[in-house]
Amino acid sequence: MTHKIRYGGDYNPEQWPEEVWDEDHRLFTRAGIDTLTVGVFSWSLTQPAEDTYDFTVLDRILDRAAAEGRQVCLATGTAALPPWLAKAHPEVNRTDFEGRRHRYGQRHNFCPSSPEYRRHATAMAARLAERYADHPALLAWHINNEYGGVCYCDLCADAFREWLRNKYVTLDALNDAWWTTFWSHRFTDWAEIEPPNALTEHWRGPDHTAFQGITLDYFRFTTDALLGCFLAEKEVIRAHDPDTPVTTNFMGMFRPLDYHRWAPHLDFASWDSYPPLDAPPTWPALAHDLMRGLKDGAPFWLMEQTPSTTACRDVNPLRRPGELRLATFQAVAHGADAALYFQMRASRGACEKYHGAVIGHAGRDDTRVFREVAGLGRELELLGDASLGARTPARTALIFDWDSWWALEISDGPSRLVKYQEVLHAYYRAAREAGADVDVVPHTADLTPYDVVLAPVLHMVKGDLAARLEAVAARGGTVLTTFLSGRVDEHDRAFPTDVPGPLAPLMGIRVDEWDSRPQDVVQPVELGEFEAEARLLFEIVQPRGAEPVGTYGADFYAGTPAVTRHAYGQGEGWYVATALDQPGVDWVIRSILTRHGLLGPYADQPAVETATRVAPDGSRLLFLLNHTADPAHLTAHAAATDLLTGKRVGEGEPLTLDPLGTAILRIQ
Ligand code: GLA
Ligand code: ZN
Repeated sequence: MTHKIRYGGDYNPEQWPEEVWDEDHRLFTRAGIDTLTVGVFSWSLTQPAEDTYDFTVLDRILDRAAAEGRQVCLATGTAALPPWLAKAHPEVNRTDFEGRRHRYGQRHNFCPSSPEYRRHATAMAARLAERYADHPALLAWHINNEYGGVCYCDLCADAFREWLRNKYVTLDALNDAWWTTFWSHRFTDWAEIEPPNALTEHWRGPDHTAFQGITLDYFRFTTDALLGCFLAEKEVIRAHDPDTPVTTNFMGMFRPLDYHRWAPHLDFASWDSYPPLDAPPTWPALAHDLMRGLKDGAPFWLMEQTPSTTACRDVNPLRRPGELRLATFQAVAHGADAALYFQMRASRGACEKYHGAVIGHAGRDDTRVFREVAGLGRELELLGDASLGARTPARTALIFDWDSWWALEISDGPSRLVKYQEVLHAYYRAAREAGADVDVVPHTADLTPYDVVLAPVLHMVKGDLAARLEAVAARGGTVLTTFLSGRVDEHDRAFPTDVPGPLAPLMGIRVDEWDSRPQDVVQPVELGEFEAEARLLFEIVQPRGAEPVGTYGADFYAGTPAVTRHAYGQGEGWYVATALDQPGVDWVIRSILTRHGLLGPYADQPAVETATRVAPDGSRLLFLLNHTADPAHLTAHAAATDLLTGKRVGEGEPLTLDPLGTAILRIQ
């Protein structure tokens, strides 16, 4: 067992003759690689025909890994259909949003409701588990790959109706939830219900629906249908292997699937990080924290990242020297106990042949990328077990809610320009750059550990959440919410009360009107001495106990509150009624964090990211990540040892970070 951060990645030696494997392992040793994810796309090899299984190549891959002292994360390989299966049972192929039944091609191409798919996928998983459960190389199970996509076939339509029957029991309940009296939609037979797509409720694509309730339920159904595939494979694995942890690789902030519904069923969370081009460092950080939040703060695996470039985008920039190292330590800072790549050796053919790899087509070990990967491998060895199993002691929580995300972005009105991730990110970024550790949690999370709870664009309010938020404020905490929060119930029906619905008592306000404007309309918002800019949506707030903190500067509502604060119990409820620019959000968040003493020691250097992890032995690690191309000059806030260099620094002494540099300080 390796007592260090797991290091390695996706490895497809079945694409190569065995001489190449010798070379691979020689290079893996040089780079400190200990973990290989294998079998992700090997179904047509391990089952070349309906009644033929052939594990000879996979046997050799695992035996070789074991002989080299490496371990494998073994995939069930069920994310890409073998051609014979698609031919023999055409209904395993998906039907798309336009209603077209696809023929064989690509990957992530299976219908989640197809019994034939389910039967073959579970048969494969069972055989793999039976064969490899006790293999010395086996470290973890990796079911399928990046679950996603939607199917609208007749099998899915039937499965959807069945799902609805379970949920609503009666058609009256369903008609009430979906508000079907609108546009003469009252259903009198379950068979009348159609999946919402381009042939039925939608126009202008997946976000434009006549019935939000129907579309929301189809998103939920799709989450559950794919989860059902995962659970079926997990169950047969468990029949042969009761202990080895099981995961599937997620995609961070991936809108189509509500990962919170999956979380209880994973033994550990893992995800693939490919940040959008030009995303600020807080973007992948938010995704890391979301993934850590899936398992209540337990460490996760970074299952994939590119060592250099992606291939699927129109433009695929290189990671600059030092960027890979910084991104990897950032993942560790946020809770990763494994740092894996896609991919170990570049494919020679097909659409990913130009995707970055640890080993390129020429098989060299003297490329810049290989040297950086190997250098990082040495540093991870040096770090050893220092961060393994460590937890983030956050006092600030950000509520992330897929239902709110969906409801907001499929809504007709008030504005198609408000994007859930962008608003959440602005608040997350403000808190992180001010030095606060943040847990990103579901709406059902226990909120008692937190001083500050941020719930931006919490469009949908479900269950007892409003009461739990009130309890946070009552005991002295601060709760923040924003425009377009507290609007709808779990079925996307508007609350028949003043906006912001169940959040109104805590916020001490009432909103009757809102003004949605194009991107180029700017409202000045005065925040004390500071003037911020606001855009997109301007809610007109009537204080009902709250005091104004910021006011609009223009239009007929000039002088009315844009930001309010409401004393509630020992604490406060803050309402931000418009999309403030980042400096405005920073101002609000820093005011709140200051009240709770949560500004970090390096809050004056927002480009130096800080993150704390507390190891199981109680030692406190402070990660300092310099996201700029210039050195960062800090003054150490405490005596500490940098685990990467072994250097000690005293409190008040100068501490310099190289450009893109990282320090991992063990605080004394
Ligand atoms: C995803 C997949 C991999 C590979 C990479 C390429 O994360 O899981 O199989 O296609 O993207 O970036
Ligand atoms: Zn289907």
